[in-house]
Amino acid sequence: MTQRVTLVPGDGIGPEVIGAARRAIDATGVAVDWDERPMGAAAFAGSGRALPPETLDAIRSSRVALKGPVETPPASGLRSVNLLLRQTLDLYANLRPCRSSPGVPSRYDGVDLVVIRENTEGMYTGIELEMGTGEVEELIRFVGATTGTVVRADSGISVKEITEHGSERIARFAFSWAREHGRARVTASHKANIMKFSDGLFLEVVRRVAVEYPDIAFDDRIIDALCLQLVQAPERFDVLVLENMYGDLVAELCAGLIGGAAVAPGAHLGGTDGKELGVFEATHGTAQHLAGQDRADPVGAILSGAMLLHHIGEDDAADTLRGAVEAVLARGDIVTADLRAPDDDRPAAGTAAFTDAVIASI
Ligand code: IPM
Ligand code: MG
Repeated sequence: MTQRVTLVPGDGIGPEVIGAARRAIDATGVAVDWDERPMGAAAFAGSGRALPPETLDAIRSSRVALKGPVETPPASGLRSVNLLLRQTLDLYANLRPCRSSPGVPSRYDGVDLVVIRENTEGMYTGIELEMGTGEVEELIRFVGATTGTVVRADSGISVKEITEHGSERIARFAFSWAREHGRARVTASHKANIMKFSDGLFLEVVRRVAVEYPDIAFDDRIIDALCLQLVQAPERFDVLVLENMYGDLVAELCAGLIGGAAVAPGAHLGGTDGKELGVFEATHGTAQHLAGQDRADPVGAILSGAMLLHHIGEDDAADTLRGAVEAVLARGDIVTADLRAPDDDRPAAGTAAFTDAVIASI
């Protein structure tokens, strides 16, 4: 059966790395009907819409998308086109596996952890009040009257919203994912010692859900301590579950543990159990300075493609594709510029040549 997949090339290096991932997926022999759709700055320049409704509809109907990085054009008036996509489709679970690969230079080896990030709430809801406005004045008055706290008039205020619903579904997603993937431990991270009613709620709910998964060990760390321990001994961690902003920061930190954002894949998942809707994209951004030069590293995009294959039930093809990427990286004769050490005399392979090597290795 042919699987339709919405293809969103995006901006900057997006079209190149997504083109690479598409070719690599096709080379596994899985039959994919690619449906290409615009999103981001190029889409805005073409149609005046950074996230065209047709693109949303295409993803809703195919239920699976492979996406490149996108820019949010200031003229679009949007806070972030990425956030709009995640919030509109309610892609509540962001999965970012970070695994060391032989051949990818890094200060660490033996890292094999998975960052599971709540993707729709926290500091990302966009509830913000600008300094000097009537709204901020009103809030300051309300806070003073109800809590006695004096808030300075020259404040800009962002609101952190954590819900029981959002915490519960991400916790369930994390434990189920751990169980399905043979993982032993889930660690929740938070600042519940300070933010008692937002992070405190998150922690309380995750603890409650943990009881339903006695086969998975559970513990928690205050977020600053987690960061310290991650850079000291990342191999000690397994599955991490975090609210949105901490997840953003920690996922990037963890990408740094395995060689950088270019090699870190990811998925944004939604629907029942996070299994109905999946948008797959690497952790990196548009890297405009590399765009159109065949210099981008496609590893994160190709590995996101392997996650996509796994998501649609093509486990063998997924393992083959991931294995092929790892084999090329480990061999080390074909290497993109970003993965060379400063004194490395190997010639830099382009995006296309690296992808050809992966395809040859499938
Ligand atoms: C990410 C990015 C996004 C985020 C930006 C581009 C909105 O950093 O996907 O991690 O903050 O979530
Ligand atoms: Mg980020």
